[in-house]
Amino acid sequence: EAADKGGWSSFMAKEINEQPEAVANTVRGRIEGDHVVIPELEALGDDVLRGIDRIIIIACGTASYAGQVGAYAIEQWARIPVEVQLSHEFRYRDPVLSDRTMVISVSQSGETMDTLMAVKYAIERGVKTVSVCNTQSATIPRESDAAVYTHAGPEVAVASTKAFIAQITALYLIGLHLGRVRETLAPEDSAAAVAQFETLPEKVREAVETHDQIAQLAHWMADTRSVLFLGRHVGYPIALEGALKLKEIAYIHAEGFAAGELKHGPIALIDHGQPVFVLVPSPRTAPLMHSKIVSNIQEIRARGARVIAVVEKGDTSVLPYADDVIRLPLADALFEPLLQVVPLQWFALELSTAKGLDVDQPRNLAKSVTVE
Ligand code: G6P
Repeated sequence: EAADKGGWSSFMAKEINEQPEAVANTVRGRIEGDHVVIPELEALGDDVLRGIDRIIIIACGTASYAGQVGAYAIEQWARIPVEVQLSHEFRYRDPVLSDRTMVISVSQSGETMDTLMAVKYAIERGVKTVSVCNTQSATIPRESDAAVYTHAGPEVAVASTKAFIAQITALYLIGLHLGRVRETLAPEDSAAAVAQFETLPEKVREAVETHDQIAQLAHWMADTRSVLFLGRHVGYPIALEGALKLKEIAYIHAEGFAAGELKHGPIALIDHGQPVFVLVPSPRTAPLMHSKIVSNIQEIRARGARVIAVVEKGDTSVLPYADDVIRLPLADALFEPLLQVVPLQWFALELSTAKGLDVDQPRNLAKSVTVE
């Protein structure tokens, strides 16, 4: 088994390290010049794609957070309203569906029963279904009208890492494909996104290299009983994912919040020494959100929080208010989640290890839940 881990201490560590390739492999073969072309979507017919007036992304767990990130990008590029619903909630709300609705399911295993049942429900109502899946020929992609596979390679650790990054990548590619076909995506925006994808694997590699700094941090924080995560826009689902990872493998109470929501309740939780990870958007590409987040940091710091700021390199604005600063490579705002999530994955792994837990096989959880 040690050999399968490729010298890493756990499958999760190995899989975090494989994320640059997971992104590169998912993008490969889907770019033509300055455009994204996904043959599996082309097969649905451009007229069908032009007629879609609403997208519902359905998924569970980590895949649902990938869906939340992807929703921002699809809306921005394809100008279609996108909502994300948990698979197991979807059909009980008697959803409003039509033949112009597209359901995109996101599932690493392609076997999650809750998601499969939601997909079947959608098919019965004549909705077009697209599956984003990491497992070739799994049930969900077989049932769906189109399958856009992520090529992250087999994921063994229960806590999903490289599949998550590949899911966001695939959803972005879908957004770019739809934007091109629907002519809502400016050619320069398409070219800019393609350029981001070309440099992304190297940047993810740099994010993976935050490991030693994070390991140190986790070592100091081994007794922590609760951790909060704050993010805005695409950083918000990353905050949720960072919290989920800690719950899953370190059994620590953790919550993710939209930073703007802080003052509407969660700030009451801030007490002396409360650790808070803050995902700080780029001051270059998202100046307004950046300044709002810096105010949030000041507010929680004034109330005694221990602030761990995740920033892009060169952003010194938070230095006076942060206890720890994790620096990531520069990327356009929409691409930052693919970098920000990496130190949060390491943090959960290292805290789990510091507590002497089994990182790959957390209690009570299964890699794929095949019952409803
Ligand atoms: C389980 C796993 C999670 C995963 C979720 C969805 O609960 O423990 O890590 O995110 O299922 O799995 P899927 O295979 O559908 O992505």
